[in-house]
Amino acid sequence: MSNSSSLGALRKRFFSLFGIFPLTIYVVFHLCNNLSSLQGPEAFNAIYDKSRASPIIIPIMILLIWIPIMFHGIYGLSLAWKSRYSPSQFPYFENLKYILQRLSGIGLLLFIPAHLLKAKILPTLDGHPADFAHMAEAFSEPLTLIVYILGVLGVAYHIGNGLWQFSIGWGLTVTEAAMKKMQVVSILVFLAISAMGYAAIGGFLMSH
Ligand code: HEM
Repeated sequence: MSNSSSLGALRKRFFSLFGIFPLTIYVVFHLCNNLSSLQGPEAFNAIYDKSRASPIIIPIMILLIWIPIMFHGIYGLSLAWKSRYSPSQFPYFENLKYILQRLSGIGLLLFIPAHLLKAKILPTLDGHPADFAHMAEAFSEPLTLIVYILGVLGVAYHIGNGLWQFSIGWGLTVTEAAMKKMQVVSILVFLAISAMGYAAIGGFLMSH
């Protein structure tokens, strides 16, 4: 293997490492917090007041979340662009999963800034960070609700299938039997993250 192709392979491995861990840990943690919507406004607001008051939350977010996710997003876009005409050497199902991985990645690059604007920037500019009432009102707008339904679907797919790609890229699943097991794991992860996201949204919808 030439130096440049082994460097490329290494970069790809770190790309999946930087994607899967920070994104998965953050999303699971964030959706767990948001599941408190099912317990009503007091529970939801208390969780967010506590996390915003923590002095380490901003450095943690920057170092462990924003930098790795930006690296993953920018490198992912360049990979998607380079391989835009080439997926046909794989069987149909693998091809479809690969295309959906790229589409969900692009969807997330659109969803995350839109969500930041709605849930963080606009409320902060208004002088009060997002609380239960703000999110409940946001979900009463059909367009916002559709964007979040697609956003949750996109993040659940990207993480579920990303785990599958990660396990192949890092040589964790080599045999066909191991790949089949990993396929089941990735489907379960997809279902679990979707269920958490939709239950959290449901908590706000039920308050209407
Ligand atoms: C299921 C519905 C969701 C709800 C109700 C929700 C709610 C919120 C709220 C209230 C904030 C503001 C936090 C603050 O001001 O401290 C926030 C921030 C954020 N959310 Fe979500 N979220 C949801 C889904 C998601 C998903 C699927 C993702 C991942 C792609 C995500 C990623 C983020 C990020 C990156 C931030 C900014 C965190 C920061 O830098 O402080 N959210 N969300």
